[in-house]
Amino acid sequence: MQKPIYILGIETSCDETAAAIVKDGREVLSNVIYSQIDIHKKFGGVVPEVASRNHIQKISGVVDDALEQANMTFDDIDAIAVTYGPGLVGALLVGVSTAKALSFALNKPLIPVNHIEGHICANYISYKDLKPPFVCLIVSGGHTHLVYASDYGKYEIMGRTRDDAAGEAYDKVARTLGLPYPGGPQIDTLAKIGNPNAIEFPRAYLEKDSLDFSFSGLKSSVLNFINQCKMKNEPIVNKDIAASFQASVVEVLVNKTMNAVKNTNSSKLLLAGGVSANSALRSEFSRICSENGIELYYPEMALCTDNAAMIASAGYYGYLRGDRADMKLNAVPSLKLSSQL
Ligand code: KG4
Ligand code: ZN
Repeated sequence: MQKPIYILGIETSCDETAAAIVKDGREVLSNVIYSQIDIHKKFGGVVPEVASRNHIQKISGVVDDALEQANMTFDDIDAIAVTYGPGLVGALLVGVSTAKALSFALNKPLIPVNHIEGHICANYISYKDLKPPFVCLIVSGGHTHLVYASDYGKYEIMGRTRDDAAGEAYDKVARTLGLPYPGGPQIDTLAKIGNPNAIEFPRAYLEKDSLDFSFSGLKSSVLNFINQCKMKNEPIVNKDIAASFQASVVEVLVNKTMNAVKNTNSSKLLLAGGVSANSALRSEFSRICSENGIELYYPEMALCTDNAAMIASAGYYGYLRGDRADMKLNAVPSLKLSSQL
């Protein structure tokens, strides 16, 4: 039997300070997340400078906790994997500097990880036998990507958002409705008691056959609707607005994704990223996939939003294929998802 590989993953790309230890890319030994949500809540969204400062304060303790919870010391770790983009530059730099310092001091390999690939790999933790090829829809606060993965680390981007990410649209609409940050889960809950047909919001399909997304028109239309209600002194029914907005997002995401599945003749579809925690999105995909004989995968709730276990999992596959970074590794805020070597 081969010796197991233990990866320490570090994630600080936005407002979660996280560290985790994962065995052979699939088995989570610890997954520590210090969420800054309560700090950013009072500002209605993430304040980059505040996020960086909190990462600095918390990162060492979070890494120590990850080791302690896994009952390990630094000596037991084979490599350190870190998110180096995309994300907020100051926030990313905290994780990157920490990982570089550990790699240098411990003389262990440093594996650079793309945050979007991390979200995809969260599924490897939830499903131990899952293997490429597959189609993956990544929907988070910062990204909306439709990707075909032909193998580990081999990605073809089939579509992406041209403006707002899906989660960003959720958060902005929620803010206008007076709901706290992050708005996605709030809208999800409200929509359950609202009428999805109450207001006909637009569906942005773009050019024929396009697999790109656009959510800014929908967001503006929700804002206009709310303003009109105010001007006409009509009641603003939050639950119906939430349900109708969500119906538009879910319809477009599902239809375009199923076209991507059809075009690539795939039998597996993965969901990933914070918005993949959405109950309407999950149930609509479950329905349509079972009707069409497609196997549907989505990570357990705690692995949908940002965490370091997914980074350690992606780092494991990077480790196997020989991805290595040196002390010149820098944060790349607008890093694109591309095929790894
Ligand atoms: O993946 P993530 O933690 O961070 C990024 O990489 O961006 O995603 C956070 C996003 C936020 O926009 C949040 O509102 C959204 O995921 N989100 C949801 C739900 N849970 C989190 N959106 C819709 N429904 C949910 N249940
Ligand atoms: Zn994320």
